Amino acid sequence: MTKAVVLGAAGGIGQPLALLLKANPLVTELGLFDIVNTPGVAADLSHIATPAKVEGYLPPDDGLAKALKGADIVVIPAGVPRKPGMTRDDLFKINAGIIRDLATGIATSAPKAFVLVISNPVNSTVPIVAEVFKKHGVFDPKKLFGVTTLDVVRASTFVSEVIGDLSKAPSVVVPVVGGHSGVTIVPLLSQSSHPLPSSYSSSELEALTYRIQFGGDEVVKAKDGAGSATLSMAYAGAEFAAKVLKAISGEKGVIAPSYVHLSADKAGGDALKKELGKDLDYFSTNVEIGPEGVVKINSLGKLTDYEQSLVQAAIPELATNIEKGVTFIGTPK
Ligand code: NAI
Repeated sequence: MTKAVVLGAAGGIGQPLALLLKANPLVTELGLFDIVNTPGVAADLSHIATPAKVEGYLPPDDGLAKALKGADIVVIPAGVPRKPGMTRDDLFKINAGIIRDLATGIATSAPKAFVLVISNPVNSTVPIVAEVFKKHGVFDPKKLFGVTTLDVVRASTFVSEVIGDLSKAPSVVVPVVGGHSGVTIVPLLSQSSHPLPSSYSSSELEALTYRIQFGGDEVVKAKDGAGSATLSMAYAGAEFAAKVLKAISGEKGVIAPSYVHLSADKAGGDALKKELGKDLDYFSTNVEIGPEGVVKINSLGKLTDYEQSLVQAAIPELATNIEKGVTFIGTPK
């Protein structure tokens, strides 16, 4: 029996994500919470002939606590998305408070759940959740994940386009490390499962790297004020959630890139900090996940000089983003 909960379930990401979770046979209960429309979304999804029992909740009558009761995995796409000209950091003002309140609900109603944070700016919202959990004495770094999967999905797609064979997209694996915004997104294209053409020039490599880093802007621009990536994000979020669900069910060797607190695996985290040359608390890299959460934080592997320079460029912005989230909650260290 596995209960998944979506907070922000009536939104652009929330609805298709809830649909994909309803379609996942490992989910037996699906709780949907939002400040609007969840009864309708839940009624609609509940007619789909898959195992999950679906229920929708709104804030009155302790709806958040009811939605979270018994949750094994909580996915959070609540909050405002970007409009053209905005960075993810511009969302901090509104989303930080939303995430703080939802994290407080999780800390009291489902402190043992795996928590997957989609709401932006992920580089800061994940530290906010951690600080709230620390305040409640329930912080388990092994179970808190910033969802960076969309960057990985984009990298797979764009590389398969370069190779000229979109049918390869599902099998192309490119590690994307760092964080989830602009220059903090670092695709390690030299480690792609499908190498780029040998004729690929360094300026082409830079352009592809830029496209992966700023792929979200293509969607924001095309939607022209109507929001940011929702469908591709729902796909990516469901893919990451599916991996976590497999790990919870006991499958071994589940590995996925995610933005985690580096104490989740002390040895791996310390080794990674050494590689970075910086004592960062959070970083996204391939992590192995087991039934109790993060089992191993993997190293970055062999980087090219170019990739090394991208990692170094990401570090100061990441450090600032992390500090901003921590300061917002104001837990003394
Ligand atoms: P949206 O505006 O369509 O949906 C957000 C939903 O959150 C709405 O239904 C709203 O009612 C709900 N909400 C607001 N306050 C809430 C609260 N206190 N409790 C529960 N629900 C609440 O936005 P969209 O497009 O679904 O994006 C959601 C978030 O995901 C944004 O912050 C966006 O930047 C982020 N995002 C993250 C990505 C990633 O790769 N991690 C990719 C794309 C978007």
